[in-house]
Amino acid sequence: MSLQTKLVHAGRKKRYTQGAVNSVIQRASSLVFDSIKAKKEAMENRTKGGLFYGRRGTLTHFALQDAMVEIEGGAGCYLYPCGAAAIANAILAFVKAGDHILVSEASYEPTQEFCEHILKDFGVETDYFPPLIGRYITKYIKPNTKVVFLESPSSITMELHDVPAIVKAIRSVNPEIVIMMDNTWGAGVLFKALEHDVDISIQAGTKYLIGHSDAMLGTAVANQRCWDKLRERSYLMGQMCDADTAYMAARGLRTLAVRLKQHHESSIKVANWLANHPKVATVNHPALESCKGHEFFKRDFSGASGLFSFVLNDHLSEVQLSDFLDNMTHFSMAYSWGGFESLILANQPEDLAKIRPISGIDFTGTLIRLHIGLEDPDDLIADLAAGLDRIKLHKNKVNALQSLV
Ligand SMILES: Cc1ncc(COP(=O)(O)O)c(C=O)c1O
Repeated sequence: MSLQTKLVHAGRKKRYTQGAVNSVIQRASSLVFDSIKAKKEAMENRTKGGLFYGRRGTLTHFALQDAMVEIEGGAGCYLYPCGAAAIANAILAFVKAGDHILVSEASYEPTQEFCEHILKDFGVETDYFPPLIGRYITKYIKPNTKVVFLESPSSITMELHDVPAIVKAIRSVNPEIVIMMDNTWGAGVLFKALEHDVDISIQAGTKYLIGHSDAMLGTAVANQRCWDKLRERSYLMGQMCDADTAYMAARGLRTLAVRLKQHHESSIKVANWLANHPKVATVNHPALESCKGHEFFKRDFSGASGLFSFVLNDHLSEVQLSDFLDNMTHFSMAYSWGGFESLILANQPEDLAKIRPISGIDFTGTLIRLHIGLEDPDDLIADLAAGLDRIKLHKNKVNALQSLV
């Protein structure tokens, strides 16, 4: 079955839809039992899709969990209130004091902060590896390494890992190591993490699954080897999302394929336009050759989503940034992405250098991160063209003022 068809049907069992097209929204803390026998059965089936207690999930949660497993593969999907909770709890489930973990230095900044603050306080040591490390990841593995955490493409700078080479190398040294991946950019479908022998595929469902920037969710789909531990430890940490959010994510799945197709086409169109703009030094879009690790995108991904970045020739001042970004027509500034709307954010290289502890940063211009939404890409290009022109206008203004002085 094609992915497009699978996304329409996934998780829509009669038990969950009860005669409707979509799953019911079953809001519950208490789930009541008619008899001692029924209560006993609920206890026995509490980890196998039986109704037991709200924190174990309701029919609405089960529908989404089943759908995620149909889509990503694996043995089960745990749901969290947001992506950061999914990352933190997945890691916590597999480490104890005295352990060591490896994390991509280009991973989402709060992932690194979780390691630096919380894991450190619990006696778990973190080392970081460059995103393009490939099979040389083995240099970083220690006897007490328990988890390797990948993110591809990387946050903000967008480098791609050679995931098959990394996984093969890790397995050859210590097959017990749990390999996890933040798979948010690929929405769990553009890169099939579990098929590449990654143990746990994590998503900020907040982004493409929800798709409309109006709810927060985390998902972690685990293979057979890791599922029981992930599920039980996440449960003990009190993790679960509410039924309404689970419903919204399941609803989001139905349009995910068409949304991603449009994000793919539009983001590549905008990226190619930027690549030819005289003020742009480089474009970090996984589908463009200029992106580091582009060859792994070509080999391993079935398409692109809407998030990428580009670097300007110039390091913009605060005033220049305001000229550019305060006056956009279609792009808004927000610390998120994955919705139907386009977003824009600036990052200065000196700030990025602080969160790239090993490799640092090899550019000097201001980096702009874009999320290309579902608007007409020509309107977005016109908006960016006007914004980039405003930087020039400002420079002229400064020059004119200087010549007057
Ligand atoms: C790559 C990535 N992973 C995880 C997260 C965290 O997701 P949430 O905001 O739902 O906690 C984000 C949020 O921006 C993200 O960009």
